Amino acid sequence: MADLSVELSGLKLMNPFMLTSAPPTATGEMIQRAFEAGWAGAVTKSIALEPAIDAQPRLARLAMGNKTIGLENIELTTQRNLEVWVKDIEEIKRHYPDHILFASLMAAVVKEEWHFLIKQVEEAGVDGLELNFSCPHGMPEKGMGSVQGQDPTIAGEITRWAKEVATVPLMVKLTPNVTDIVEIGKACEEAGADAISAINTVPAFIGVDLDRLEPLPSVGGTSAFGGYSGPAIKPIGLRCIAQLAKGTSLPLSGVGGIARWRDAAEYILVGASAVQVGTAVMFQGYEIVEKMKKGLSAYMDEKGFESVARMRGYILPKITAHEELNFGYKVVAAIDQALCSKCGLCYTACMDGGWQAIEMESRQLYPRVVGEKCDGCSLCLHICPVEGCIALVPA
Ligand SMILES: Cc1cc2nc3c(=O)[nH]c(=O)nc-3n(C[C@H](O)[C@H](O)[C@H](O)COP(=O)(O)O)c2cc1C
Repeated sequence: MADLSVELSGLKLMNPFMLTSAPPTATGEMIQRAFEAGWAGAVTKSIALEPAIDAQPRLARLAMGNKTIGLENIELTTQRNLEVWVKDIEEIKRHYPDHILFASLMAAVVKEEWHFLIKQVEEAGVDGLELNFSCPHGMPEKGMGSVQGQDPTIAGEITRWAKEVATVPLMVKLTPNVTDIVEIGKACEEAGADAISAINTVPAFIGVDLDRLEPLPSVGGTSAFGGYSGPAIKPIGLRCIAQLAKGTSLPLSGVGGIARWRDAAEYILVGASAVQVGTAVMFQGYEIVEKMKKGLSAYMDEKGFESVARMRGYILPKITAHEELNFGYKVVAAIDQALCSKCGLCYTACMDGGWQAIEMESRQLYPRVVGEKCDGCSLCLHICPVEGCIALVPA
């Protein structure tokens, strides 16, 4: 059986699955229930000096059919006082000494504020700190969150201040909303950060209620830009983790769009030591971790990875610069007539979005690939509703 235990900056996690800072970690009671359900670690909802006052409602989703693609929120930091959190942290650690608890912290660019928050949560017994340099809404206007993670000098400076008093591992949580996330990661690494988590939500505007003519989520008729999470942002998170894995030497905690063991496996393969989950738990509950652990373990057995550490970053060498791709590799589409339903989707796509390489004389006849016209772009493969019907074969 594959060993699911991992190490993140010296902290031992029973498995790579942690809850991210979000509503599922809003209280100590919730975090304890999550640990009971099988999560190895959790990051508290972000704690600031002042409790937040949240807008209502503060969530809106993007769906395809009844499937959620992404979720936008305009939620701020925790609505609870620091003193309440201190008690909660003490209690969580009393009951779950072997689980890993990070406190997520947010403050202005003021050294004393960071020192104060860090000392409070450390005295309460947290195992690690996560500095939130990444919330894209509400807090940047107050000089907090993503404005700090968009400036390498500020991110480095706060990390340095934090390290003056921190006695437990210090992770910085970065925003994807920058030109070069590696530049920010390196600044934090040079300032002494012990780990990086990425990503926080992606700045977004989820849509308009066309009947009411109101922006969403509509807070009594108005709204504000928010942060986008869930399956839609996984490709952005994977890109950021891969870049950070190549460009820094810090341990990484991958976050963004993880809902199944497969998503977690992808994050580990591009360099994450552990992963964090938020939106998927909001929609499906803490129980999903059991399936994730089983699925990841079975996959590791199948592929011969004895440990997560062995698997970590395995495919990174295969992510190259575009100019280093093998341009001699040539393929063409091939349609399996035994599976084809003659729906014509591949024909239309190739006609109007491809290379006019698929011929289909009528809806009664099978589509046919004209090899010399096919440019191997793969569009037809992604359009075809029948799995395995269209494949790419050597040209
Ligand atoms: C409603 C909501 C509230 C969140 N609050 C916080 C927060 O307080 N601090 C923080 O660092 N990230 C916060 N996040 C961002 C998540 O921690 C995570 O980075 C992001 O949602 C991507 O992961 P996911 O796709 O698994 O949700 C929040 C996300 C959501 C959906």
